[in-house]
Amino acid sequence: MEFVFKQWVSALFSSFWLLFSVALSVEGIKGNSKVRGVNLGGWLVIEGWIKPSLFDGIPNGDMLDGTEVQFKSVTLQKYVSAENGGGSNVTVSMDVPSSWETFRLWRVSETQFQLRCTEGQFWTIDGQGSFVSATKEAPATDETFYIKRLGKSSRVHIQHQNGTYLQALPESQLTADYQGEPGWDDNAATFKMAIVSNNNIHGDFQLADGYGHAKAKQVLEEHRNNFITKDDFKFLSIHGINTVRIPVGWWIAFDPDPPAPFIGGSLAALDKAFSWAEAYNIKCIIDLHAAPGSQNGMEHSASRDGSVNWPKSQHNIDKTLDVIDFLASRYTKHPALLGIELLNEPSVAEVPLDKLVSYYQKGYQIVRKYSPTAYVIVCQRIGNANPLELYQANIGFTNIVVDLHYYNLFDTFFVNTTAAQNIDYVYKSRAAQLQQLNNASGPLLFIGEWVNEWNVTNGSKKDYQKYGEAQLEVYNVASFGWAYWTLKNDRKHWDFEWNIRNNYLEFSSSFRLQISSVISFLVLTCSYLFFQHIW
Ligand SMILES: *[C@@H]1O[C@H](CO)[C@@H](O)[C@H](O)[C@H]1NC(C)=O
Ligand SMILES: *[C@@H]1O[C@H](CO)[C@@H](O)[C@H](O)[C@H]1NC(C)=O
Ligand SMILES: *[C@@H]1O[C@H](CO)[C@@H](O)[C@H](O)[C@H]1NC(C)=O
Ligand SMILES: *[C@@H]1O[C@H](CO)[C@@H](O)[C@H](O)[C@H]1NC(C)=O
Ligand SMILES: *[C@@H]1O[C@H](CO)[C@@H](O)[C@H](O)[C@H]1NC(C)=O
Ligand SMILES: *[C@@H]1O[C@H](CO)[C@@H](O)[C@H](O)[C@H]1NC(C)=O
Repeated sequence: MEFVFKQWVSALFSSFWLLFSVALSVEGIKGNSKVRGVNLGGWLVIEGWIKPSLFDGIPNGDMLDGTEVQFKSVTLQKYVSAENGGGSNVTVSMDVPSSWETFRLWRVSETQFQLRCTEGQFWTIDGQGSFVSATKEAPATDETFYIKRLGKSSRVHIQHQNGTYLQALPESQLTADYQGEPGWDDNAATFKMAIVSNNNIHGDFQLADGYGHAKAKQVLEEHRNNFITKDDFKFLSIHGINTVRIPVGWWIAFDPDPPAPFIGGSLAALDKAFSWAEAYNIKCIIDLHAAPGSQNGMEHSASRDGSVNWPKSQHNIDKTLDVIDFLASRYTKHPALLGIELLNEPSVAEVPLDKLVSYYQKGYQIVRKYSPTAYVIVCQRIGNANPLELYQANIGFTNIVVDLHYYNLFDTFFVNTTAAQNIDYVYKSRAAQLQQLNNASGPLLFIGEWVNEWNVTNGSKKDYQKYGEAQLEVYNVASFGWAYWTLKNDRKHWDFEWNIRNNYLEFSSSFRLQISSVISFLVLTCSYLFFQHIW
């Protein structure tokens, strides 16, 4: 009897152990099988929509770097235009504004700006005739203009650095030769300025340049010290999260005095995150979210004005590899490091695959120089790219991970969908792709960003719960795991903590399930042992 019982217990134990060890597929993650992560978005790389109040104190705060503006002459009733997007004289000739009539600001001070056209050139004054032309590649003093606003109205005067105001001539030219100081009546020097608001970016560049160094330093110190704290790591560990993915900007490698306008201090914050992570048995993925020159033109890659210059210069790419070297040398020995993500969301339209793969291969070698095991994570290009392109690229040999971002958003396909359509999409399209990629040889698969939000009007709490459940169920299949975007957010549905506290994301249920199965197993075993003893 006793012999049979012992055999039974040991069989039960070993099958239970097997169950656990088979599931342990990601090296370095204890207890859980894979990455169940949360992103620390909007912390060390600023995204205005995550915490809009960061920008509240900037004077003239709707005219930041990259803000798109259009000017209409009040006398001619025509729009100022850089025909062909740049390269010739600026005219005042168009009835309807479009891209040639849209100019991106480079902010020099609260009131001084440089104006950039779509082809990239800046407004300048063209010698003799005082013509304004869009011809200068690199702006300096001569390309700097005061934009003076009439209170909160749209009326503006544009004054050249040397004191002369611009005017719209009847023959459709824009010239720097208005005589004297214009009034606010309908005269040739008065324009109506429109801010094209659906595309203005609020990142680290805009914040730092908008406040100026001293004030920006104060604002960012406050933010970095308080937005994410040790308590958040405690919250995460309690709720079964085992990893954080931490977006950082390239300037972190130049702490404490990064090139202007970036503000030092993010390195010290990252160090703190690592120590909190260690304290709560959480792993860290460092994610290079913003590369020099910007790899996608968005605020979260710290673009100045929406342009993508990363792939256009080998210098930018080499500088990025130096940043990876810096991060790898500093953190690969840290017990909390799980992996390094080489570049977040390169743009498919702007970053050619061969350049990207070559960068990823070199980045892989750099991380391997410091660590044989740290995961090297390569992010899929955003836009319409096939993720298999990275599986076939031979980026490295061991512990390579491909990161895919799953949002049922940012594509007309998802506009005005129903809850059922979204849930169906997760169970069918997402699941099929996951299966296919999990099967592909080579890298592991990571759903490094996803969110319990969609383009559904008035989804009910129940709808959100089902959607969250579907996503967790499907993304749990990914061989490396997943990470929610993002820990904290002004928009509550994007906010992981809000989702957990309000039971919109019933995430811990699967974690609880594991715990409860361990407990019931122990109870069962103990009672068996107990009864065995009584006998
Ligand atoms: C601007 O127009 C003037 C007068 O037509 C012309 O002389 C000048 O070359 C033009 N400049 C550019 C850059 O096209
Ligand atoms: C400023 O520059 C413009 C264009 O060269 C010129 O027409 C104007 O006379 C200058 N004004 C002053 C005050 O120097
Ligand atoms: C989505 O719904 C909104 C509000 O009902 C409507 O204004 C819009 O045109 C719809 N968009 C599409 C692409 O169906
Ligand atoms: C994945 O691989 C298994 C075993 O080779 C195969 O049975 C299955 O059909 C594959 N699934 C997909 C989606 O390719
Ligand atoms: C859905 O997407 C459209 C177009 O991007 C946007 O205007 C709208 O606000 C979104 N609606 C919801 C509920 O997210
Ligand atoms: C969605 O909710 C808003 C605010 O509660 C309400 O005004 C609107 O009519 C609702 N729309 C639909 C389609 O139910």
